[in-house]
Amino acid sequence: MNKQINPNDISHVVEADKAHVWHHLTNHSKFDAVDPLIIVEGKGLRVWNQAGREHLDAVSGGVWTVNVGYGRESIANAVRDQLVKMNYFAGAMGSVPGALFAERLIEKMPGMSRVYYSNSGSEANEKCFKMVRQIAHNRYGGKKNKILYRQRDYHGTTIATLSAGGQDERKDEYGPFTPGFVEVPHCLEYRSQWGEVDDYGIRAANAIEEVILREGPETIGALCLEPVTAGGGVITPPEGYWERVQEICRKYDILLHIDEVVCGMGRTGTWFGYQHYGIEPDMVTMAKGVASGYAAISCTVTTEKVFEMLKPEVSDTMGYFRDISTFGGCTAGPAAALENMRILEEEDLLENTIQMGEYFLEKLEGLKGKHKLIGDVRGKGLFCGAELVVDRDTKEPASEAMTQAIVADCFRENAVVIGATNRSLKGFNNTLCFSPALICTKSDIDEIISAVDGAITRVTA
Ligand SMILES: Cc1ncc(COP(=O)(O)O)c(C=O)c1O
Repeated sequence: MNKQINPNDISHVVEADKAHVWHHLTNHSKFDAVDPLIIVEGKGLRVWNQAGREHLDAVSGGVWTVNVGYGRESIANAVRDQLVKMNYFAGAMGSVPGALFAERLIEKMPGMSRVYYSNSGSEANEKCFKMVRQIAHNRYGGKKNKILYRQRDYHGTTIATLSAGGQDERKDEYGPFTPGFVEVPHCLEYRSQWGEVDDYGIRAANAIEEVILREGPETIGALCLEPVTAGGGVITPPEGYWERVQEICRKYDILLHIDEVVCGMGRTGTWFGYQHYGIEPDMVTMAKGVASGYAAISCTVTTEKVFEMLKPEVSDTMGYFRDISTFGGCTAGPAAALENMRILEEEDLLENTIQMGEYFLEKLEGLKGKHKLIGDVRGKGLFCGAELVVDRDTKEPASEAMTQAIVADCFRENAVVIGATNRSLKGFNNTLCFSPALICTKSDIDEIISAVDGAITRVTA
């Protein structure tokens, strides 16, 4: 049937959504009672829903993505111009924006050399896993194929990336998983696994070495870590951790794969999170902030050394990286990414991120002084978290229901969208998450903090 649709009547959109869209991470039974939210428009840090209500987005599109904010016409124009000229060709060929963005990106990543394009963070991480496996086959008789991942880290939604996932609730009911992935302990000092230790960072890194020795270093190809753990609780690494991790990887000839899907492109105040800690990775993956969600793009970036390991003689038909991602050949991604990077530079957004990040943490500490519910405040740049506890002495975590009640209150009472760890770790989905666009101001932060203050007061009353 050919339906007449009134473009000004959004109620049809809501009906169509309700009837046919399967939303991400959503139990649809709730839509028996309420309508889904449709986000219709965005500008800066503000978004508007179907009812015309304005919201302050403190989570950059929900999942740390829209780093330069909404409504950037210059990115839309760059993408449009590129699409009418040349939208797509398979990535076995080159493209103008693909080459130029790779060059600009590598300028920001001393020590790195090659960029492999695909579409999502999960996919970028899987490319690394495949590289590690192929290197194991080509150089180590297939033996050095295991990949270490860390408890509480997340690397994606596909079965292989879930196999490398340290968040049990994300994995529950989706097994069996891909073999060859081995977990190492998390590094959240607030939840120390070893009681009170003097050098927690060294202790947590040494725990990785213990796993390596247990499994046999000759079987381990790579260690995959987030620089600052995101959905697992906004975990900033403890002092000394990364130096020791790097030392351990070098000692056992293990490739270091840093997942920058969240931290990449300025979120923590440096281009990449690892750059705070003097790390020299072998592989770096990125996605969300690369084009701030204006186009789908992810990158797997490697050193020349890793690249060379998969560059055999011309006559070798099997030893090179035999991988393709159809939409890795889309030019919209790198065209948007080039303009996104230009904006970050021209508007000095890394500096703003450092300054506003400090202000945000200071304000969260202030809230902690006022509300016993906040047990710990953590963060780097505009990537902050507040872990909620019902008892500061025992550190008993607040329930997921209570944590979500605070998120819901901010939304309902003040139209402020904040986030919280959810369905990640049994009993520990208790960290409020804040990651506004890197353009945010003190007054935006004051508005967010005031909403959280009010929400905690009401929910704990
Ligand atoms: C650290 C990290 N890595 C990878 C991913 C997966 O990215 P995508 O959802 O684009 O596949 C995410 C997504 O949230 C993430 O937080």
